[in-house]
Amino acid sequence: MSLDKNLLENLIDITSKAAISCYPHLGNGDKTLADKAATDVMRLNLNKLNIEGEVVIGEGELDEAPMLYIGEKLGNNKGQKIDIAVDPVEGTNFVAKNLPGAISVIAVSEKGNLFKAPETYMNKIAFGQNIPSDVIDLDNTIEKNLKNLSDFKNKKIEDITVCLLDRERHNEIINSIKKIGAKAKLITDGDVAGALLVSDKKYDVDIFMGIGGGPEGVIAASALDALNCKFQGRFIFETDKDKVRAKQMGINDLNKKYEINEIVRGDSMFCATGITTGDLINGVKKDGSLFYTETLITHKSQNLVNVIHKKYQSE
Ligand code: FBP
Repeated sequence: MSLDKNLLENLIDITSKAAISCYPHLGNGDKTLADKAATDVMRLNLNKLNIEGEVVIGEGELDEAPMLYIGEKLGNNKGQKIDIAVDPVEGTNFVAKNLPGAISVIAVSEKGNLFKAPETYMNKIAFGQNIPSDVIDLDNTIEKNLKNLSDFKNKKIEDITVCLLDRERHNEIINSIKKIGAKAKLITDGDVAGALLVSDKKYDVDIFMGIGGGPEGVIAASALDALNCKFQGRFIFETDKDKVRAKQMGINDLNKKYEINEIVRGDSMFCATGITTGDLINGVKKDGSLFYTETLITHKSQNLVNVIHKKYQSE
């Protein structure tokens, strides 16, 4: 079975409207207002759909009282059973500061096919099309991965670009990249978009790596799978609370390295609408009373990858 094609149109509409809802909050220094606006829009509109949906990646867990919490049921309960991953604002700092790179994202799969990820960090690695799995591995040293990649791509090591979050925890990786002579592309936030930069030559990113949000890892993996790219991830459970939560969510091996097909299976859809213009996609533009949006979409079973432009009248 695959996901109903008509669902994709609705999802594009929802991420577009969520992105537009952030527009009034751009650059106001507040990370939460836009997030709340986009979350409200997503929830309202997902609930109108003919689906029996469940949030597997959301804005948090029920006891933190967010909306779109993990386990929340969405839709009118009449249609296809699906898993839903949402990130209404991926890059809340970007929105607060009106900087490039914020996106509004939804990924869906058929019921039970998208990993229910806890709110912890994940060590991730993503790389592009046609690269065999044995060339790169999360457990290899940075040097080995980059050398293998440069050999496989027949590209000089100094022409290999590694995208990763600019964080102190990555100093060792950054030093290894420098030492071997490759290029680091250090992003300040937004590692869903960062990981997706491996999907097309035009972005000039050969590999994405490092530690970021686990939920973001699952969302990126769902798009990468449809884009025929590779992804591996390992959750990081630091506190006892994290470990208990993981067990409650059915994760028994806390040190497991997940392959992409263990994170997302079967058919999937992914929509990322730009809120502010970034490397991956353009942000919301306003012209008079009209809003223009750009959305990157994938639908795995249809081999569909596209960028959709939409126009909305402001309310
Ligand atoms: P938010 O949009 O939720 O603020 O997340 C932004 C982000 O950069 C993610 O893309 C990334 O996975 C995570 O934060 C990294 O977390 P940290 O800022 O703690 O390193």
